[in-house]
Amino acid sequence: MSFPTHRPRRLRRTEALRNLVRETRLTTAGLIYPMFVCPGTNVRQEVSSMPGIAQQSVDQIVEECREVESLGIPGVILFGLPESKDATGASSTSPHGVVQRAVESIRKANLNLVVITDVCLCEYTDHGHCGVIENGEVANDATLGILANQALSHARAGADIVAPSDMMDGRVAAIRGKLDDHKFENLPILAYAAKYSSAFYGPFREAAQSTPQFGDRRSYQMDPANAREALKEVALDLEEGADMVMVKPALAYLDIIRRVRDAFDVPVGAYNVSGEYSVVKAAAANGWLDERRTVLEILTGIQRAGADIILTYHAKDVARWLAP
Ligand code: PBG
Repeated sequence: MSFPTHRPRRLRRTEALRNLVRETRLTTAGLIYPMFVCPGTNVRQEVSSMPGIAQQSVDQIVEECREVESLGIPGVILFGLPESKDATGASSTSPHGVVQRAVESIRKANLNLVVITDVCLCEYTDHGHCGVIENGEVANDATLGILANQALSHARAGADIVAPSDMMDGRVAAIRGKLDDHKFENLPILAYAAKYSSAFYGPFREAAQSTPQFGDRRSYQMDPANAREALKEVALDLEEGADMVMVKPALAYLDIIRRVRDAFDVPVGAYNVSGEYSVVKAAAANGWLDERRTVLEILTGIQRAGADIILTYHAKDVARWLAP
């Protein structure tokens, strides 16, 4: 039995009907806003390739966090631009580092925000890779201890969740062990489990000043052609103690989000990354796309693919658009 008995258009006739039968309801409650912390005071330096996004000193970060909280966005993820870089990313573990101080200040301001910290070395190493270099290669095992110490320093500063994004093998276990040894057994880990080697990170590398000075990240980040391998990465991170997992980027990897969602019963995050933001901003600035409709459609698609949590630079705009 089909037409004329069945007419799917009946339920699309009015906005009220469409609202009633909508399958995916995008809400601000699942959004996380990424922020870039830099040294100094009263600094707000716009990232040219990411209109609306800035590198900011701790005082400014706290001010924007107040706004983020007032918009009903549940949390932020912090990236650091340190005062100094070296071969091993030593500044990333300092209790006086930019991220550590930002976390402390957000805590002191008593904001109702989940504060997530990105755990990685690329912003802190002079060569820009996510691990230490041995014999011209990014060395896996030698990197794990530094990552664990960095996560511990974030925990001590008051982070609510640590999120390793380096893609070293075994880093979740190393971080879990270190946190547990120091009585942070209740601190969750959000693993960037399926993180692909992507051209869409381009603008982020301007924002975080983390462009690799030689080579690329293909020896540790995933090959965009692989899907089954993503399930393996997720399984390993969960075995090692990850509480939540993330797929990154989001748009070219909606199938991965769906497969991870179907295969595992943990919260799944998706990172709507810098390049995905910049293409929309650039097209909108040219009048080629309706920014609001485009962004809401993109985020609805990411949620429909199975993401419970979406990290997105559009979070503040979306919160305003969705406000009742
Ligand atoms: C690495 C890291 C990257 C992003 C988040 N964490 C960049 C990279 O791997 O080069 C990208 C985020 C984005 O593009 O918005 N620590």
